Amino acid sequence: MPGGGSAERRRTTLDLVAMKARGEKIVAITAYDALFASLVDAAGVDLILVGDSVASVLCGEETTLSATVEQMTYHGRIAARGASCALVVVDMPFLSYQVARAEAVRNAGNILKHTGAGAVKLEGGCEVADTVRAIVRAGIPVMGHLGFTPQSVHALGGHRIQGKDEEAAARLVEEAVALEAAGVFSIVLELMPAAAARRVTEAVAVPTIGIGAGPDCDGQVLVLHDMLGLNEAFSPRFLKRYAELGKATREAVSRYAEEVRAGKYPGEEHGYAPVGDGG
Ligand code: KIV
Repeated sequence: MPGGGSAERRRTTLDLVAMKARGEKIVAITAYDALFASLVDAAGVDLILVGDSVASVLCGEETTLSATVEQMTYHGRIAARGASCALVVVDMPFLSYQVARAEAVRNAGNILKHTGAGAVKLEGGCEVADTVRAIVRAGIPVMGHLGFTPQSVHALGGHRIQGKDEEAAARLVEEAVALEAAGVFSIVLELMPAAAARRVTEAVAVPTIGIGAGPDCDGQVLVLHDMLGLNEAFSPRFLKRYAELGKATREAVSRYAEEVRAGKYPGEEHGYAPVGDGG
Protein backbone atom coordinates (compact mmCIF):
# COMPACT_ATOMS: atom_id res chain seq x y z
CA MET A 1 0.00 0.00 0.00
CA PRO A 2 1.16 3.60 -0.54
CA GLY A 3 3.83 4.77 1.83
CA GLY A 4 5.12 1.23 2.41
CA GLY A 5 7.79 -0.33 0.24
CA SER A 6 6.92 -4.04 0.59
CA ALA A 7 5.17 -6.31 -1.96
CA GLU A 8 2.38 -4.15 -3.33
CA ARG A 9 0.26 -3.22 -6.29
CA ARG A 10 1.18 -0.27 -8.45
CA ARG A 11 0.28 3.21 -7.17
CA THR A 12 -2.45 5.05 -9.03
CA THR A 13 -3.23 8.75 -9.26
CA LEU A 14 -6.17 8.09 -6.90
CA ASP A 15 -3.78 6.62 -4.31
CA LEU A 16 -1.77 9.85 -4.33
CA VAL A 17 -4.86 12.01 -3.84
CA ALA A 18 -5.93 9.70 -0.98
CA MET A 19 -2.46 10.03 0.58
CA LYS A 20 -2.89 13.80 0.75
CA ALA A 21 -6.32 13.35 2.37
CA ARG A 22 -4.71 11.08 5.01
CA GLY A 23 -1.82 13.48 5.55
CA GLU A 24 0.77 10.96 4.27
CA LYS A 25 3.80 12.44 2.53
CA ILE A 26 4.39 11.42 -1.09
CA VAL A 27 7.90 10.44 -2.22
CA ALA A 28 8.79 11.17 -5.83
CA ILE A 29 12.09 10.98 -7.69
CA THR A 30 13.25 11.08 -11.29
CA ALA A 31 14.56 8.12 -13.28
CA TYR A 32 15.31 7.90 -16.97
CA ASP A 33 16.07 4.19 -17.46
CA ALA A 34 15.14 0.69 -16.33
CA LEU A 35 18.16 0.18 -14.05
CA PHE A 36 17.67 3.27 -11.90
CA ALA A 37 13.87 2.94 -12.06
CA SER A 38 14.10 -0.59 -10.63
CA LEU A 39 16.41 0.62 -7.84
CA VAL A 40 14.21 3.55 -6.78
CA ASP A 41 11.09 1.40 -7.16
CA ALA A 42 12.59 -1.22 -4.84
CA ALA A 43 13.39 1.59 -2.38
CA GLY A 44 9.64 2.24 -2.17
CA VAL A 45 9.10 5.59 -3.88
CA ASP A 46 5.49 6.42 -4.73
CA LEU A 47 6.10 8.18 -8.03
CA ILE A 48 8.84 8.01 -10.66
CA LEU A 49 9.07 11.09 -12.85
CA VAL A 50 10.69 10.60 -16.24
CA GLY A 51 11.55 14.29 -16.38
CA ASP A 52 12.61 16.26 -19.42
CA SER A 53 15.56 17.12 -17.16
CA VAL A 54 17.00 14.07 -18.97
CA ALA A 55 18.08 16.61 -21.63
CA SER A 56 20.38 18.43 -19.22
CA VAL A 57 21.22 15.68 -16.70
CA LEU A 58 22.07 12.87 -19.16
CA CYS A 59 22.53 14.64 -22.47
CA GLY A 60 24.58 17.64 -21.32
CA GLU A 61 22.22 20.33 -22.66
CA GLU A 62 22.00 23.64 -20.79
CA THR A 63 18.19 23.60 -20.68
CA THR A 64 15.35 21.11 -21.11
CA LEU A 65 14.17 22.76 -24.32
CA SER A 66 15.75 20.24 -26.69
CA ALA A 67 13.78 17.26 -25.34
CA THR A 68 11.49 15.68 -27.92
CA VAL A 69 8.42 13.44 -27.77
CA GLU A 70 10.52 10.61 -29.24
CA GLN A 71 13.19 11.05 -26.55
CA MET A 72 10.63 11.21 -23.71
CA THR A 73 8.85 8.16 -25.15
CA TYR A 74 12.09 6.20 -25.25
CA HIS A 75 13.09 7.13 -21.69
CA GLY A 76 9.50 6.67 -20.48
CA ARG A 77 9.41 3.16 -21.96
CA ILE A 78 12.71 2.00 -20.49
CA ALA A 79 11.99 3.58 -17.09
CA ALA A 80 8.48 2.09 -16.93
CA ARG A 81 10.04 -1.31 -17.66
CA GLY A 82 12.01 -1.06 -14.42
CA ALA A 83 9.15 0.07 -12.18
CA SER A 84 6.61 -2.32 -10.75
CA CYS A 85 5.06 -0.38 -7.83
CA ALA A 86 5.56 3.35 -8.40
CA LEU A 87 3.29 5.45 -10.59
CA VAL A 88 5.35 6.44 -13.64
CA VAL A 89 4.80 9.98 -14.97
CA VAL A 90 6.43 11.19 -18.19
CA ASP A 91 7.13 14.85 -18.93
CA MET A 92 5.61 16.32 -22.08
CA PRO A 93 8.50 18.17 -23.73
CA PHE A 94 8.61 21.78 -24.89
CA LEU A 95 6.31 22.48 -27.88
CA SER A 96 4.52 19.13 -27.60
CA TYR A 97 1.45 20.70 -25.93
CA GLN A 98 1.69 24.49 -26.35
CA VAL A 99 0.89 24.80 -30.07
CA ALA A 100 -2.48 23.12 -30.61
CA ARG A 101 -4.86 21.30 -28.28
CA ALA A 102 -5.45 18.33 -30.60
CA GLU A 103 -1.71 17.90 -31.03
CA ALA A 104 -1.29 17.98 -27.23
CA VAL A 105 -3.91 15.24 -26.76
CA ARG A 106 -2.30 13.12 -29.48
CA ASN A 107 1.20 13.57 -28.03
CA ALA A 108 0.02 12.79 -24.49
CA GLY A 109 -1.87 9.73 -25.73
CA ASN A 110 1.10 8.47 -27.73
CA ILE A 111 3.38 8.90 -24.72
CA LEU A 112 1.05 6.75 -22.60
CA LYS A 113 0.47 4.27 -25.41
CA HIS A 114 4.13 3.66 -26.16
CA THR A 115 5.65 3.81 -22.67
CA GLY A 116 3.37 1.99 -20.24
CA ALA A 117 3.47 5.08 -17.98
CA GLY A 118 0.38 6.07 -15.97
CA ALA A 119 0.34 9.83 -16.50
CA VAL A 120 1.97 12.81 -18.20
CA LYS A 121 3.21 16.09 -16.71
CA LEU A 122 3.16 19.49 -18.34
CA GLU A 123 4.21 22.98 -17.23
CA GLY A 124 2.12 26.11 -16.80
CA GLY A 125 -1.03 27.49 -15.15
CA CYS A 126 -4.15 29.18 -16.51
CA GLU A 127 -2.71 29.29 -20.06
CA VAL A 128 -2.61 25.47 -20.25
CA ALA A 129 -5.82 24.77 -18.29
CA ASP A 130 -7.95 24.11 -21.40
CA THR A 131 -5.25 21.83 -22.79
CA VAL A 132 -5.11 19.92 -19.50
CA ARG A 133 -8.91 19.58 -19.60
CA ALA A 134 -8.78 18.16 -23.14
CA ILE A 135 -6.05 15.64 -22.26
CA VAL A 136 -7.86 14.55 -19.09
CA ARG A 137 -11.11 14.14 -21.09
CA ALA A 138 -9.24 11.73 -23.34
CA GLY A 139 -8.63 9.55 -20.26
CA ILE A 140 -5.03 10.59 -19.68
CA PRO A 141 -4.06 11.62 -16.13
CA VAL A 142 -2.14 14.91 -16.01
CA MET A 143 0.23 16.33 -13.41
CA GLY A 144 0.72 20.12 -13.38
CA HIS A 145 3.92 22.09 -12.74
CA LEU A 146 3.98 25.64 -11.33
CA GLY A 147 6.53 28.10 -9.99
CA PHE A 148 9.83 27.90 -11.83
CA THR A 149 8.92 26.09 -15.03
CA PRO A 150 12.17 25.09 -16.77
CA GLN A 151 10.68 25.13 -20.27
CA SER A 152 10.12 28.90 -19.79
CA VAL A 153 13.63 29.53 -18.44
CA HIS A 154 14.33 32.25 -21.01
CA ALA A 155 11.02 34.04 -20.44
CA LEU A 156 11.58 33.89 -16.66
CA GLY A 157 15.07 35.43 -16.96
CA GLY A 158 16.91 32.35 -15.66
CA HIS A 159 16.57 29.99 -12.71
CA ARG A 160 14.70 32.37 -10.41
CA ILE A 161 12.55 31.81 -7.36
CA GLN A 162 8.90 32.48 -8.25
CA GLY A 163 5.98 33.72 -6.12
CA LYS A 164 8.12 35.97 -3.92
CA ASP A 165 5.69 38.83 -3.30
CA GLU A 166 2.04 38.79 -2.27
CA GLU A 167 0.74 39.34 -5.79
CA ALA A 168 2.91 36.58 -7.28
CA ALA A 169 1.98 34.15 -4.49
CA ALA A 170 -1.73 34.89 -4.98
CA ARG A 171 -1.26 34.29 -8.70
CA LEU A 172 0.26 30.87 -7.98
CA VAL A 173 -2.79 29.96 -5.89
CA GLU A 174 -5.05 31.07 -8.74
CA GLU A 175 -3.08 28.98 -11.25
CA ALA A 176 -3.20 25.91 -8.99
CA VAL A 177 -6.97 26.24 -8.52
CA ALA A 178 -7.37 26.55 -12.33
CA LEU A 179 -5.26 23.42 -12.88
CA GLU A 180 -7.26 21.52 -10.27
CA ALA A 181 -10.53 22.57 -11.92
CA ALA A 182 -9.09 21.38 -15.25
CA GLY A 183 -8.53 17.93 -13.75
CA VAL A 184 -4.87 17.51 -12.73
CA PHE A 185 -4.28 14.81 -10.12
CA SER A 186 -1.23 16.54 -8.64
CA ILE A 187 0.95 19.64 -9.08
CA VAL A 188 4.74 20.01 -8.91
CA LEU A 189 5.75 23.26 -7.16
CA GLU A 190 9.28 24.27 -8.13
CA LEU A 191 11.47 27.01 -6.63
CA MET A 192 9.17 29.18 -4.54
CA PRO A 193 9.14 30.41 -0.94
CA ALA A 194 7.82 27.86 1.57
CA ALA A 195 4.98 30.24 2.51
CA ALA A 196 3.77 30.44 -1.10
CA ALA A 197 3.92 26.64 -1.47
CA ARG A 198 1.98 26.25 1.78
CA ARG A 199 -0.76 28.57 0.50
CA VAL A 200 -1.03 26.62 -2.76
CA THR A 201 -1.04 23.30 -0.89
CA GLU A 202 -3.87 24.47 1.38
CA ALA A 203 -5.88 25.81 -1.56
CA VAL A 204 -6.18 22.55 -3.50
CA ALA A 205 -7.33 19.00 -2.69
CA VAL A 206 -4.85 17.41 -5.10
CA PRO A 207 -1.34 16.77 -3.74
CA THR A 208 1.47 19.25 -4.31
CA ILE A 209 4.95 17.82 -4.83
CA GLY A 210 7.70 20.31 -4.03
CA ILE A 211 11.24 20.83 -5.26
CA GLY A 212 12.88 23.84 -3.69
CA ALA A 213 9.46 24.79 -2.29
CA GLY A 214 9.82 24.06 1.42
CA PRO A 215 8.58 21.34 3.77
CA ASP A 216 4.83 21.94 3.67
CA CYS A 217 4.09 20.44 0.25
CA ASP A 218 2.25 17.12 0.26
CA GLY A 219 5.35 15.40 -1.10
CA GLN A 220 8.84 16.04 -2.39
CA VAL A 221 10.61 15.28 -5.65
CA LEU A 222 14.33 15.35 -6.37
CA VAL A 223 16.34 14.66 -9.49
CA LEU A 224 17.97 11.30 -8.75
CA HIS A 225 21.34 12.16 -10.28
CA ASP A 226 21.48 15.35 -8.17
CA MET A 227 20.64 13.69 -4.84
CA LEU A 228 23.11 10.88 -5.54
CA GLY A 229 25.89 13.42 -6.11
CA LEU A 230 26.39 12.29 -9.72
CA ASN A 231 25.58 15.71 -11.13
CA GLU A 232 28.26 17.50 -9.11
CA ALA A 233 28.03 20.87 -10.86
CA PHE A 234 24.46 21.33 -9.61
CA SER A 235 24.26 22.27 -5.94
CA PRO A 236 21.38 24.62 -5.11
CA ARG A 237 20.68 25.25 -1.43
CA PHE A 238 17.52 23.13 -1.33
CA LEU A 239 19.33 20.04 -2.60
CA LYS A 240 20.38 17.40 -0.09
CA ARG A 241 22.94 14.93 -1.41
CA TYR A 242 22.24 11.50 0.05
CA ALA A 243 25.38 10.01 -1.54
CA GLU A 244 28.55 11.11 -3.33
CA LEU A 245 28.45 8.76 -6.31
CA GLY A 246 30.29 11.20 -8.59
CA LYS A 247 33.36 11.04 -6.35
CA ALA A 248 32.94 7.27 -5.84
CA THR A 249 32.75 6.74 -9.63
CA ARG A 250 35.89 8.79 -10.31
CA GLU A 251 37.81 6.96 -7.58
CA ALA A 252 36.69 3.50 -8.74
CA VAL A 253 37.56 4.18 -12.39
CA SER A 254 40.99 5.66 -11.45
CA ARG A 255 41.76 2.51 -9.43
CA TYR A 256 40.70 0.33 -12.36
CA ALA A 257 42.88 2.38 -14.77
CA GLU A 258 45.89 2.12 -12.43
CA GLU A 259 45.48 -1.64 -12.06
CA VAL A 260 45.09 -2.24 -15.82
CA ARG A 261 48.17 -0.11 -16.52
CA ALA A 262 50.16 -1.91 -13.84
CA GLY A 263 49.10 -5.34 -15.17
CA LYS A 264 47.33 -6.12 -11.89
CA TYR A 265 43.85 -6.55 -13.32
CA PRO A 266 42.73 -9.16 -14.24
CA GLY A 267 44.77 -11.20 -11.78
CA GLU A 268 44.86 -14.49 -9.93
CA GLU A 269 41.67 -13.82 -8.01
CA HIS A 270 39.84 -13.63 -11.38
CA GLY A 271 41.07 -17.05 -12.46
CA TYR A 272 44.27 -16.04 -14.25
CA ALA A 273 47.31 -17.85 -12.95
CA PRO A 274 50.62 -15.97 -13.31
CA VAL A 275 52.46 -16.63 -16.60
CA GLY A 276 54.74 -19.63 -16.26
CA ASP A 277 52.31 -21.54 -14.01
CA GLY A 278 50.47 -22.93 -17.00
CA GLY A 279 47.63 -20.35 -16.80
O1 KIV B 1 12.18 17.40 -15.46
C1 KIV B 1 12.23 17.20 -14.24
O2 KIV B 1 13.06 16.44 -13.72
C2 KIV B 1 11.26 17.91 -13.40
C3 KIV B 1 11.52 17.92 -11.92
C4 KIV B 1 12.60 18.87 -11.60
C5 KIV B 1 10.28 18.20 -11.15
O3 KIV B 1 10.34 18.47 -13.89
